[in-house]
Amino acid sequence: FYPAVLMLGLFGAPAFAQATCEPGETVIKFSHVVAAEGHPKGEMATALAARVNREMDGTACMLVFPMSELYDDNDVMEAILLGDVHLAAPSVSKLENYTFQYRVFDLPFLFDDMDAVQRFVGGPMGQDLLDAMSDYGFAGLGYLFNGLKQFSASRPLLVPGDAEGLTFRVQASDVATSMVEALAARARQLPFEEVRAALQKGLVDGQENTWSNIYTAGFYEFQEEVTATNHQLLVYLVVTSKEWLDSLDSDVRLQFLSILGEVIEAANMRADGINQASRQRIVEAGGTVRELTGDQRRQWRSVMAPVWDEYETMIGVDLIDAAIAAND
Ligand code: LMR
Repeated sequence: FYPAVLMLGLFGAPAFAQATCEPGETVIKFSHVVAAEGHPKGEMATALAARVNREMDGTACMLVFPMSELYDDNDVMEAILLGDVHLAAPSVSKLENYTFQYRVFDLPFLFDDMDAVQRFVGGPMGQDLLDAMSDYGFAGLGYLFNGLKQFSASRPLLVPGDAEGLTFRVQASDVATSMVEALAARARQLPFEEVRAALQKGLVDGQENTWSNIYTAGFYEFQEEVTATNHQLLVYLVVTSKEWLDSLDSDVRLQFLSILGEVIEAANMRADGINQASRQRIVEAGGTVRELTGDQRRQWRSVMAPVWDEYETMIGVDLIDAAIAAND
């Protein structure tokens, strides 16, 4: 038996009630690092658990562990292979220990908008990429969108030179590090759950993330200035282990994958709205959000262009070309 637990959200508000699993049910644990509410991934996980627990009652039971309470993204992939958790949705940027191909998603200013991302992941190359880590025993089950990332700091960042000399937190990703270093700034890789405290203590001067992460993780409280740079994508891979997936009875697996597919699709349609609402809340809380002029945007783009050259061979030109073609 797993006891019913009332999870506490970021500000101590009850976020959601954990399910109670019955003996005989297949327990599916979903571990992630973000808030359970007001966030594209957190809401997707909650919605998935609600549907599994309702529609597969008696067969399967899903438990969700948000906000790194079980594992952070450094540990979760290993935990999946060990069978300690069954589902996670890490940012693809953090998967470079397993494949360099996901780095295509990290190239700065690659995708014009989320429609282009949708076209790319729905195309043959995007679908093949779901299996990029199969040699390690992972099965990619779908792409879950967050959105485009924004730079923030305690001072206005309008042209790339404004970032010079500052230290920015980045995800555990070489591409993100290169991108920040292209600004003549320093990059510090930190797990997501450490970022808010690092900003508060001044261990880093700034960060780059989506509106929903900046808002729900409280980064905006220590960053007066956010610039709508939209410079890089944050997309997640919903991932499990092949061993666990194969261990399910085929009808259980089919039902689970069909629910998952529908929940991911619905979540991807909501992601942009959630991010825009987060942006609005940051402004309402007194934050300054700056838009770039066309010329300023061109400057950010051109300063980060060398990152493409650095990673092109590792990613593969064909893959990059397919992603670029999705913009048309
Ligand atoms: C980050 O570490 O900034 C993100 O990958 C967190 C997340 O899961 O959105």
